[in-house]
Amino acid sequence: MNYDVDAVRAQFPGLTRREGDRAAVFFDNPAGTQVARMAIDRMVESMVHRNANLGGLFTTSVLAVEDVAEAHRAAADFVNARDPDEIFFGQNMTTLTFALSRALGRTFRPGDEIVVTRMDHDANVSPWLMLAEDRGLVVRWLDFDLDTYEFDLARLRSLLSERTRLVAVGHASNLTGTVNDIAAISRMAHEVGALVYVDAVQYAPHGVIDVQALGCDFLVCSAYKFFGPHYGLAWGRRELLEGLTAYKVRPAKDTLPSKFVTGTTNREELAGIRGAIEYYAWVGQQFGKVPGACRRNQIIAGIGAMADHDLALTTRLIAGLQALDGIRIYGITDPAAFGRRVPTVSFRAAGVATEAIARHMAGKGIYLWHGHNYAIEPCRAMGILEDGGVVRVGLAHYNTPEEVDWFLSVLVGFLKSNA
Ligand SMILES: Cc1ncc(COP(=O)(O)O)c(C=O)c1O
Repeated sequence: MNYDVDAVRAQFPGLTRREGDRAAVFFDNPAGTQVARMAIDRMVESMVHRNANLGGLFTTSVLAVEDVAEAHRAAADFVNARDPDEIFFGQNMTTLTFALSRALGRTFRPGDEIVVTRMDHDANVSPWLMLAEDRGLVVRWLDFDLDTYEFDLARLRSLLSERTRLVAVGHASNLTGTVNDIAAISRMAHEVGALVYVDAVQYAPHGVIDVQALGCDFLVCSAYKFFGPHYGLAWGRRELLEGLTAYKVRPAKDTLPSKFVTGTTNREELAGIRGAIEYYAWVGQQFGKVPGACRRNQIIAGIGAMADHDLALTTRLIAGLQALDGIRIYGITDPAAFGRRVPTVSFRAAGVATEAIARHMAGKGIYLWHGHNYAIEPCRAMGILEDGGVVRVGLAHYNTPEEVDWFLSVLVGFLKSNA
């Protein structure tokens, strides 16, 4: 079946919101997507019918244990982990990163080096900077090219040495939308024996994550950015996770997958994450060409169908913005390179405050973000940190061409009234 955006939208109760006589336009997706009905249903089922703490001998506890195992299996399919035990969950990407950075830091020595980037969201920067401070590490910064919005990997090579212990890098930028070549970065880092820690928060809603193909060592993402609840997901190589010391209480298990779970497992969130992943598989079954019945293939097909739709919307949006005077887009605009960006399009309008645009859009029922969006290093590098950052239009596979056109016409009207 061809991609049917109305059928997709029907899977999201939140999209029925109206603003005046129009449907609300959700372009705030990089900050959090709407939640798929399948995720909500799984959470309700967990809280109503499978609600008990883990490890008891009675029915609800047994069911709750099953739910946790199912969430691990679903997440393993989602990122292509070899083993569901390599997955663990936690409050969000930031919290998981602070936890993992502390555990990793115990294995680093003063004078060891780590690489962080000027493109990353601060959740993949600050935990490492603070670790460097705590452990006396040397921080090397990987800049991105201000014309292409991409990394020059020769520059990365020049930063790496046998002292490098870790490279922390984003899979996709939450500001420019650039998608990075993680497989190449992993190869280069591994040549000098460094580990690779990937923030896949912004890639997960738009692209297929394959930790085996990426060759990275750790990868984190957040389900509220991919149609699920506010909870985070981490993957690490089994042998590395096993070798780390987790910050945990003594009676808690020291084995995977429990080792890095602090306190009582948040079962309803795990159920919701499973539901979100099942939603991807549903999209694949509906609109993709799925070889066989395996969930991983369904997920790949689902994301493929979503990505085709994302691409059409991105092309329309960027062409529309480029047709306007005084607009500067902070990200890849060459359609030939759209395979290296997600549909997150940041821009500024000459002489107009980003906040003024966001406020006007909010008044018209168009939800989007402005400012630095915690991408403070990219905004500083581009000279816009102290000047309102960007207006960020974050598209998702449930958005429509009509919404893009409506946004553009509202923007045109606003810019005219400000001229
Ligand atoms: C690229 C990126 N990384 C990390 C985060 C932080 O995620 P969380 O809220 O799950 O900690 C965000 C949130 O916007 C993000 O966009």
